[in-house]
Amino acid sequence: MIKIPKSPSSRSRKKKNDVFIPKMNIGIFGHVDHGKTTLTEALTGRWTDTYSEEIKRGITIRLGYADFTIYKCSKCKEHPFSSTEICPKCFSKCEPKRTVSIVDAPGHETLMATVLSAASVIDAAILVIAANEPCPQPQTAEHLAALDIAQIKHIIIAQNKIDLVTPQEALKNYEEIKNFVKGTVAENAPIIPISAQQKINIDALIEAIDKYFPEPKRKEGPGRMFVARSFDINKPGTRPKNLMGGVLGGSIIEGSFKVGDEITIIPGIERKGEWVPLKTKITGIEKNRIKLKEAHAGGLVGISTTLDPSLTRGDALSGSFVGIENLPKVYKNLRLKVHLISRFEAIGREVTMDDVKTGTVLMMTSGVAKTVGIVRSMHDKIIDVEVKLPIYAEKDWKISLSKQINGRWRLIGWGELQ
Ligand code: GTP
Ligand code: MG
Repeated sequence: MIKIPKSPSSRSRKKKNDVFIPKMNIGIFGHVDHGKTTLTEALTGRWTDTYSEEIKRGITIRLGYADFTIYKCSKCKEHPFSSTEICPKCFSKCEPKRTVSIVDAPGHETLMATVLSAASVIDAAILVIAANEPCPQPQTAEHLAALDIAQIKHIIIAQNKIDLVTPQEALKNYEEIKNFVKGTVAENAPIIPISAQQKINIDALIEAIDKYFPEPKRKEGPGRMFVARSFDINKPGTRPKNLMGGVLGGSIIEGSFKVGDEITIIPGIERKGEWVPLKTKITGIEKNRIKLKEAHAGGLVGISTTLDPSLTRGDALSGSFVGIENLPKVYKNLRLKVHLISRFEAIGREVTMDDVKTGTVLMMTSGVAKTVGIVRSMHDKIIDVEVKLPIYAEKDWKISLSKQINGRWRLIGWGELQ
């Protein structure tokens, strides 16, 4: 739940706040149980699995966001980076350098659609690979394919759980990782051995984050945002006159939003079989618990609106797109050119166009929106798909395509709007 922060008052506080406003999103990807949430906690101090089902099952289900500030110690010569104001080595006060937002993705194979949504809101990724299992495990390969489709160029590999293996085993696993990433987007990614649980080498990882993950240059202009969460922040029993409007949580991908902006949410809501966009006004913005008048890309942004809070309750609007003008088109039928991925460790066999025939059911992810669709016709590599829920997309976006293989949704490639 988004907490309302105390508003910063003085000018110097505002300037100082800037270093605490996240400017980029870093995704944590990798196979189930390889230690993504534990690493997120080691970096940010926050355990992102908070949904009761996640705690019960011990797995991540939804996208978890948590921010941390990179601090640099001026006294320590070796690995002077940490995520705390007081240097854990010499206990002197460190300078804050910048704040980044971590997006913790789920590793379970049934939650691939959430992983694909995560890939579309991040600027860089840490691929967590456990050193105590042979590499690649199925979702290690599938997540790397998702990063490839999303064209994430900045990747670090965290070789985790080194506390569980001997130095020889760690070296053997390192060679397996090197072999596995050859020819992929992660070919030149630095590999940092860590133990997220024992907090070994986290300083080296933070240093690598600072070195290899530059803050992306953003397009200015009217804001565009993907909605990852939506909330009703009113306590049960609140009197109607005291009700606060619905809150949208997500990532701005371009431009900026200001308090007072009129925004449109697509695909909106279904009324009598038709999907109608929602129009509302921004009444408040916050990031990393700092109230803002205007927000740009990077990190999780919370946008308060004048929407009826029942519309935003329980993530009802997650997967939506928010914009001020020039919104993507919403489709019920799409014509796509299919591009199949070339490495299929997750499936154990080659995928061919025989997998995408008339009548095939596909799961499609466009931005953070997901829907299932049925292939109505196919010619060469061009398919016509009718989707169950309307989906928004633009010409240069890559729409991920997954198919049920042996009872599981598997990422098989991506589609390009024709
Ligand atoms: P999913 O979100 O379900 O995919 O799992 P995850 O990748 O987030 O793994 P999580 O962080 O929940 O860790 C899974 C288990 O591995 C937990 O029991 C952790 O305590 C343990 N673990 C994580 N990192 C380490 C490590 O560095 N060393 C050891 N020994 N155990 C670890
Ligand atoms: Mg997890």
